[in-house]
Amino acid sequence: MPIKILGIETSCDETAAGVVVDGQTLLSNVISSQVDLHAKYGGVVPELASRQHVRDLIPVLEQAASDSGFGLEDMDAIAVTYGPGLAGSLITGVNAAKAISYSLGIPLLGVNHLEGHIYASWLSKGNLEDDPGFPLACLVASGGHTDLLLMEGHGRYKLVGRTRDDAAGEAFDKAARILGLGFPGGPEIQRVSAGATGEETLPRAWMKDTLDFSFSGIKTALLHIAQDRGLYPYPEDGVDQERLVCELAAAFQESVVDVISAKLVDMAAKYKVKGLVLGGGVTANSRLREEIIKRSPLPVIIPPPILCTDNGAMIAACGYFQYQRGDDTPMDIDVNPGLPLG
Ligand code: KG4
Ligand code: ZN
Repeated sequence: MPIKILGIETSCDETAAGVVVDGQTLLSNVISSQVDLHAKYGGVVPELASRQHVRDLIPVLEQAASDSGFGLEDMDAIAVTYGPGLAGSLITGVNAAKAISYSLGIPLLGVNHLEGHIYASWLSKGNLEDDPGFPLACLVASGGHTDLLLMEGHGRYKLVGRTRDDAAGEAFDKAARILGLGFPGGPEIQRVSAGATGEETLPRAWMKDTLDFSFSGIKTALLHIAQDRGLYPYPEDGVDQERLVCELAAAFQESVVDVISAKLVDMAAKYKVKGLVLGGGVTANSRLREEIIKRSPLPVIIPPPILCTDNGAMIAACGYFQYQRGDDTPMDIDVNPGLPLG
């Protein structure tokens, strides 16, 4: 019998739910974004985020069930993100999942958000001719994390590289703010970079002899250039603002893409993996995707951009493999805002 799992994701500013069959076939994926709510503050306001999740969660769940062609009562289990993320946001999803699990008498599966980002790739594995198998080199690059994880099997990870300061997504968001672009910064930087000629460059933070990253230095270098060139904090008269913003955005993007791609490919060689897996909002970046595919001699599994950013389907996909292992979560589970992986 195919196993249908409903996944709930409310760790940050997206209220999301999706239904997945056997961890691989996506039946529905509903995402209610709070971007407009937070944009004017230039970042996610936790209190506003949790209140909005409370408003949006039930309609999102109903839509995810109805889009799948099934009812909630047809689900075999319910998976939910219980960390890492914002405590108040996580609580709304976890409480809803507990209520559904209890009332329908189906298992509750608490999922690590970072592991969910990895399992988004299982939703696009059907497009591959051959499944590379384990071990895999996984990059999770999001607003809060930039992790290189060795995945030795389902649910088995070793953290082999991470950022020592800002996460890649956080760096994109801060760079966009310096350049006077909107929030979230990653998609904005990508958009304006498309018009650049490549005449500006920024340094790379290589951090020799480690798979760790550092992104705060590039951000500071960008800030100093923006100040020197009269772009920040207020653009000066006579500065060709639009052109300079495009060039600096592209320089920033290239600097981040170069370092991430190089370290991921190095890691893959060092650990003799069979394939690469990308996940997290930053891996929606088209230059990053292009560069990793170009540099990797191994198969690269990348979800479509909509499954790279936060969604409920990836949580359902991950939950399936926990379900298969009989790894049910007790009803008294609490949220864990700092939950690690690997
Ligand atoms: O995974 P995600 O949706 O949420 C977290 O778990 O944090 O990632 C959000 C991050 C934001 O920092 C956003 O700027 C970044 O992903 N992001 C991108 C792109 N789309 C989203 N960064 C670079 N290029 C993109 N196209
Ligand atoms: Zn995420």
